[in-house]
Amino acid sequence: MTDLANLDFLVNKSQWRETRFQKRTISADLAPGEVLFRVDRFAFTANNITYAAAGDLLGYWRFFPAEEGWGRLPTMGYGDVVASTHPEVAVGTRCFGFYPMSNYLCIQPASASATSIVDGAAHRADLSLFYNQYSPVDTDPLYSAEHEDEMILMRGLFMTSFLSEDSLADNDLYGAEAVLISSASSKTSIALASRLKQTGSAQPIGLTSPGNLDFVKSLGCYDQVVEYGAIDSLPATRPVVFVDMAGSDSITRAIHTHFGSQLRHSQRIGVTHWEESPNDDALPGPEREFFFAPAQAQKRVGDWGASGFHERLSEGWTAFRDASPAWLRVERRYGREAIDPVYRDTLEGRTRPDRGQVLSLWENEQAAAGR
Ligand SMILES: NC(=O)c1ccc[n+]([C@@H]2O[C@H](COP(=O)([O-])OP(=O)(O)OC[C@H]3O[C@@H](n4cnc5c(N)ncnc54)[C@H](OP(=O)(O)O)[C@@H]3O)[C@@H](O)[C@H]2O)c1
Repeated sequence: MTDLANLDFLVNKSQWRETRFQKRTISADLAPGEVLFRVDRFAFTANNITYAAAGDLLGYWRFFPAEEGWGRLPTMGYGDVVASTHPEVAVGTRCFGFYPMSNYLCIQPASASATSIVDGAAHRADLSLFYNQYSPVDTDPLYSAEHEDEMILMRGLFMTSFLSEDSLADNDLYGAEAVLISSASSKTSIALASRLKQTGSAQPIGLTSPGNLDFVKSLGCYDQVVEYGAIDSLPATRPVVFVDMAGSDSITRAIHTHFGSQLRHSQRIGVTHWEESPNDDALPGPEREFFFAPAQAQKRVGDWGASGFHERLSEGWTAFRDASPAWLRVERRYGREAIDPVYRDTLEGRTRPDRGQVLSLWENEQAAAGR
């Protein structure tokens, strides 16, 4: 077999505004037990910027190592097996999973079956199984060929929101009737608000920036929407919960101060406003708690059994996905020229909330599919 030309999109780990492409040759002559994916396409949202923000703390830079000082951001995408020396993995297998912003990814499966291939590469050994797993689409119960883009854009985000709503309901909403959600225009927040609406567990109230106010109001999944500067206009007479996707000190402080003892629970999920680090010093109200989705998933698998859990998740996901064309248009972009502008717009918060970006380092759909 021949060597393959590969391009990596690299981010400076300490200065995320600095990026570059690196050419690398990848050998298709694999060592025993290896699998080589051609990365077809991947989704890019603010969540991927959070991977940079939490890159050192939570290990996101370790999935796909790069040269000293530089990192390769993980993304959710699809890859097709183009070479395999693993007896259980056939060439042509298409998998949903965590891929770098590159043309190819070589993995060393620790286990492989018809439903799951787990990368056992040493640098990923202590990272979450959830992210080390590649799901062959043929046996994935959530997969649908016509909704591939929605899957990579929102499946992971929906799962977090599904579990967040479930954990709030599991705790009787901490005695609250309404849930305040920051970065209300983000896909994760829309998923949470939709879920709260669907289950009827509490009234979702969206908080957003002035430029996204009309969009968030048009969604219909929030009972009320206010811009960040108008938090004081919300009545502070009834108990509320705050779910934070923004990670902004000023927004968090405004909510904790305004609601005081009526704020019954404060849950941290995201950091879309990454330039404004939250600071919990002398923050009124409850202590902020980081929401750890895998723990709630594990609890529910215990309560409902694995099939009961997946049935509920699948039902919720299908409803959310099928409603998404009303507010989301997917934009697929091919080629290296497409990558940097989308990365930069997402980093700086310039993306339109009614768009979902799906990218590929291949120059067109045919090349991405290896045709
Ligand atoms: N912990 C977890 O397991 C988990 C899982 C899923 C998602 N999340 C987090 O949830 C958040 C939302 O992710 P997403 O992928 O759903 O986002 P998204 O759809 O790409 O959201 C974009 C929105 O985020 C805000 N934003 C983005 N960049 C910004 C910037 N530089 N400055 C100010 N505002 C900015 C804006 O909302 P507003 O104008 O409305 O503020 C923007 O409309 C991320 O922080 C993500 O990491 C965490």
